[in-house]
Amino acid sequence: MHEHIKERIKTVITNLTALPSMPEVVTRIINMVNDPNVDFKVVAHEISQDQAITTNILKLANSAYFSKGKEISSIDKALVTLGMKEVKDIVVVAATKQILDKPIIGYDLPKGELWKHNVAVAMLAKRIALDKKKRNLADLVFTGGIIHDVGKTVLALYVASTFKDIIQSTIENQITFAQAEQQIMGFDHQEIGQIILKKWKFPEVLQNIVRYHHDTDNAPEADIEAVSIVHIANTICQMAGIGIGGDGLYYELSGKAIETAGLDDTELQYYYSLTPELLKQARQIM
Ligand SMILES: [Fe+2]
Ligand SMILES: [Fe+2]
Repeated sequence: MHEHIKERIKTVITNLTALPSMPEVVTRIINMVNDPNVDFKVVAHEISQDQAITTNILKLANSAYFSKGKEISSIDKALVTLGMKEVKDIVVVAATKQILDKPIIGYDLPKGELWKHNVAVAMLAKRIALDKKKRNLADLVFTGGIIHDVGKTVLALYVASTFKDIIQSTIENQITFAQAEQQIMGFDHQEIGQIILKKWKFPEVLQNIVRYHHDTDNAPEADIEAVSIVHIANTICQMAGIGIGGDGLYYELSGKAIETAGLDDTELQYYYSLTPELLKQARQIM
C-alpha cells in the first residue's frame, strides 16, 4: 500500500470542491423522475433555467438515437414526445459530457475514450433491459451506464503513479484491477465514483450501480438487477475494446450477474456481436 497516496486521495475526497460538480438542476430532474406527482411544466421550467444545458438537450433530442423522427424544438415538446425518463437520460448525457470527455491519463484513455465507453455501456445496458422486458429499469441503467466510471476522472492522477504496482498485483494475486486499486491505493474507482454521486445527491440506486459495477456479488439485493445489467454491458464493451484503457483486461464477468439478468451464452454472444453497431449509435450522441 502506498500510504502517502492513500492520504492524498483522502484529502481530495473530504475536500468536496476538488471533486467534479454537477448543476443543481440536473440533480433536481433526476430526483423528480421518481416522483409520480411531478408535472411536465415544472420539469420544463427547471430545465429551461439553464441555457447551456437546454441547447445541448435539444441537439441530443433531435439525434437519430433519441428522436422518434419528429422535430423537437422545445423542452416541452421533448417531454411530450419522448417522455420524462427519456428527457432525464438526455439531460444526464448533456451534463456529464464535460466531466467525462477528457483524457484520463492514468488509465491510458486518450480524450474521448472514456466518454465513448460510458455512452456505449449506457446504450447496451438499456438495450438489454428492454429486451428482457425490464422497462422500468431501462432509463436507470442508461443513466448508471453513463456515469459508472466517473471515479476514474479523479483517481487517474494517482493510478498514473502506481500503475505498475497495480498491474503487478493483479497478476501476482490473481485479482481484478479494482481489487488491486484498493490494495495499492486504499481506494478503487467505484468507491470514488459513489462519493462523487453522493456529493451530487443522486439517488441511492445510481450510487449502488457505480459502487458495485465490478462487484455485483456484494450489491444490495434491491438494486442487484440494475447493477447486474450495467456490469454485463460494461464487461461486453470492454471485451469488444470500446474505450478500453490500461485496466481493461483485468476484470471478470460475474456469473451471478448473468444469472440475475437471465441471460444465456447465446444472448451474451448476440450482444457482443452488436458492439460495432453500438459504436455507430454512440457516435450519434457523443
Ligand atoms: Fe469500471
Ligand atoms: Fe467501465
